[in-house]
Amino acid sequence: MTGGVLTAGDNAEDADVTGITCANRARNHGCALAQISQQSPEPIPATYAHPMAAPGAVRDQLSRGLRDLRISVTDRCNFRCPYCMPRELFGADHAFLPRAELLSFEEVARLVRVFAALGVTKIRLTGGEPLLRRDLAVLVAEIAAIPGISDLALTTNGSLLSAQAEALAAAGLRRITVSLDSLDPKLFQELADSRVSVQTVLEGIAAASAAGLPVKLNTVLRKGVNDDGLLDLVDYARAHGHTLRVIEYMDVGRTNGWVLDQVVPSAQARARVAAVHPLEPIGDEGTAERWRFADGVGEMGFVSSVSKPFCGTCTRARLTAVGELFTCLFATSGTDLRAVLRSGATDVELLDVVGGRWASRDDRYSELRGLGTVGVARAEMSYLGG
Ligand code: GTP
Ligand code: 5AD
Ligand code: SF4
Ligand code: SF4
Repeated sequence: MTGGVLTAGDNAEDADVTGITCANRARNHGCALAQISQQSPEPIPATYAHPMAAPGAVRDQLSRGLRDLRISVTDRCNFRCPYCMPRELFGADHAFLPRAELLSFEEVARLVRVFAALGVTKIRLTGGEPLLRRDLAVLVAEIAAIPGISDLALTTNGSLLSAQAEALAAAGLRRITVSLDSLDPKLFQELADSRVSVQTVLEGIAAASAAGLPVKLNTVLRKGVNDDGLLDLVDYARAHGHTLRVIEYMDVGRTNGWVLDQVVPSAQARARVAAVHPLEPIGDEGTAERWRFADGVGEMGFVSSVSKPFCGTCTRARLTAVGELFTCLFATSGTDLRAVLRSGATDVELLDVVGGRWASRDDRYSELRGLGTVGVARAEMSYLGG
C-alpha cells in the first residue's frame, strides 16, 4: 500500500496547493468574481416551452425525480487512496485532463440553472479533490446565487481546507463533508498514500467548523484495514459535534481491487458502536440511515449501498469535470453536455437533452449487484466525483 509518497503539490491542476486562500489573495478573488458576474449568460426565463420544465416534473423510468447533482470540478487529487486512485495506475505519467477540457465556471453555472429548472435543489461539489481547482469559492458564489438551489455542499479530503474554509463559507457554501478513514497518524498516511498528515486534515476540519460550516466525516470502513479505529472516530466526532458517516466499501471503478470480504456491513459496524454508545434510529437521509446517540450527544449515519441498496429513492445525477452527465455512480458512460453547450445550444435545447436523458434512465446498479448481472467497464470514482 505504499510505493512512492506524494506531496501536497503533486498533480495540482491550477494549483492552489500552496494553501494560499482566496482571502489571502483578495485582489484576485474579487476580480474573478467581478468578471464572472459580467460574463454570465442571460438568466434562464422562469418558464419554458418544454413540458418537462416544471420543477420536479421530470421522472425516470422508475418514476424517480431529479433532485441532486454532484459536480466534479477536477479529476486530480493530491492523495492516492488505493481504493480510489492506486498509485500504480495514477502515477507520474498518468494523463490527467488538460485545463481546456474542463468545464469553465460559467458553463457549470449555466448547467446548474438548467438542472434547477428540472427539479434539482441540492448541489455537491466533488473531485478528485475539489479544492485543487483554483478559485473554487468563485464557483460556490455563482451556484449559491441560483434560484432553487437550497443546499450547496462539498466533499473534500480536507488537506487544503484550513486555508480555504473561510472563503468557501463566505461564498455561500452551506456544509462540508471530509473523508477521514483513520485518526491514527501512520495508518492515515498509508491509507491516503500521501505525506499529508492527519493533523493537517484535523486542522482543516476545525477551520471549517470555525467558519460556521456543519461538518460530516466520511469513513469507508474496511475489515482488517481500518475497522479497529471505528470507536476512536466515533469519539472524535462526538467530541467535536460532527456527524460521522460510516460507509460500506463499494466496488466502484475497475481499479480498486474490491473484495466483498473487506466490506463491513453497516449492521455490524452499528452494533459495535451501539455496544458502547447506545443508538436510536431517526430515519433515512439521502444515502444514509441516521441514528442518534441515546445520551443526546449528536448523531451518526451509515451508508449501506452494498448490504442495503437505496436505488429505489436515488434522485441523483453526476456531472464530470468535462461535462458528461452520468445517471449512476456505476454507469459505463455519460452524455456529453459540454459538446451541446459548446455547439451554441439554447437553454431550452440543453433542457431537452438533460430532461430527455433523465426520462430514459433505468439505472439501479446496487440493487442488481447481488444478482451478478452487472458489467465491469465502469468509470473511476475519482473521475465521476464519488
Ligand atoms: P449528504 O448530502 O450529506 O447526504 O451526503 P452524500 O451521501 O450525498 O455525499 P457523500 O459524498 O458524503 O457520499 C457518501 C458516500 O455515499 C460515498 O461513499 C459515496 O460514494 C456514496 N454515494 C453517494 N451517492 C451515491 C449513490 O448515488 N449511489 C451509491 N451507491 N453510493 C453513493
Ligand atoms: N467505496 C465507498 N466509498 C468510497 N469513497 C471513495 N471510494 C469509495 C469506495 N470504493 C468515498 C470517499 C469519499 C466519498 C465521496 O466516497 O472516501 O468520502
Ligand atoms: Fe482523492 Fe478522495 Fe480518491 Fe482519496 S478517495 S484518492 S482523497 S478523490
Ligand atoms: Fe443511484 Fe446507481 Fe447508486 Fe443505485 S447504484 S443508488 S441508481 S447511483
